[in-house]
Amino acid sequence: MPVQLEDNKRTAIAGKLAEMKAFQNLLIANEEILIQACSDRELSNRLEDFIRDDRKNLGIIDTVIVQYGVKAEPSQKVQKEIEMVSEMMQDSELTIFDKVAKHELLKHAQTMSGLLVHKAAQVVGADIEVAIAPLNTVNFENRAHQEQLKGMMESLSTLELTGQSADQGIWARVQDSMAALTGMAGSVVSRTSDEMSIRDVIRMDHLKVKTLFGQIQNTEVPQKLEEYFGQLYQDLFTHSEAEEQILYPALRPHYNDTQKLCDEQAEMKQMLDQIKAMNPTNTVEFKSAVARVMEAANAHMDDEERNVFPYIKDNFGDGQQKQLATEFKTAKSQLQDKRVLSTSSK
Ligand SMILES: [Fe+2]
Ligand SMILES: [Fe+2]
Repeated sequence: MPVQLEDNKRTAIAGKLAEMKAFQNLLIANEEILIQACSDRELSNRLEDFIRDDRKNLGIIDTVIVQYGVKAEPSQKVQKEIEMVSEMMQDSELTIFDKVAKHELLKHAQTMSGLLVHKAAQVVGADIEVAIAPLNTVNFENRAHQEQLKGMMESLSTLELTGQSADQGIWARVQDSMAALTGMAGSVVSRTSDEMSIRDVIRMDHLKVKTLFGQIQNTEVPQKLEEYFGQLYQDLFTHSEAEEQILYPALRPHYNDTQKLCDEQAEMKQMLDQIKAMNPTNTVEFKSAVARVMEAANAHMDDEERNVFPYIKDNFGDGQQKQLATEFKTAKSQLQDKRVLSTSSK
């Protein structure tokens, strides 16, 4: 039996990530409505900050989905829930407190989804942990937003129930809870998607591929070999093709060894196709074939990082490097969509 590229657990996690993206869009839409409805300066300033974070985090979720390498759609149940909440947010009978309270629940659910994806990644594979690492920032900021939303609820309900402003100690308390959170989270560092250069995105891909090779080397279980190889195959194809579409043409006019890089990738793809036709239950044979492609891939990736990266650094401006990163991610995303279409039509 040749290798089956799709794995159910991985597809399920892809569904959860797609759900997070859909909810992130909903959070942004809600915040736009709340800002319009809110007359209190303190509250609207905080909402403005949320929306700035949430737009940036939508970009991070998008990057994570592409890095993860498996695409899915949010379930019908989720789509229905989003429609219901959108209607509720437009409902003129509800108070702003009701809407902020609902928004707080959604933030909570979003934080939980992020944490659950991390838990699942710990069980399924180190390569997934590598791909989803930037979600840490999203989770941390959602938790910080939740603390502020609790303060907003306190302020709004006091006003609704008593007609008077809440005591001013609320925000000091909120600030304290956020400081405690920061202590807990340590230094959560993650660059936003639009700050990444082409070298950063390529390095992230290489790290994921190397992690997958390591996982294959460390298992004797045919079902695990199949799962990791399935992911490796998809990641390496997408990465190579995106480099051929975006990076190599940009290098070609001046960098002498571009053709060599293309030829090496053609050879690797051929090796991968041969392994795909093998049966992973012949573990020894299967793993030694993977070891051969690993050797070729490692040499190729090291060459890119040692020779192509300095070339990019010296010859492309910052803006150009970021632009290439964006184009590279878009190309990968399109290649992944095409693959989803071709597998679902089989
Ligand atoms: Fe390459
Ligand atoms: Fe590469």
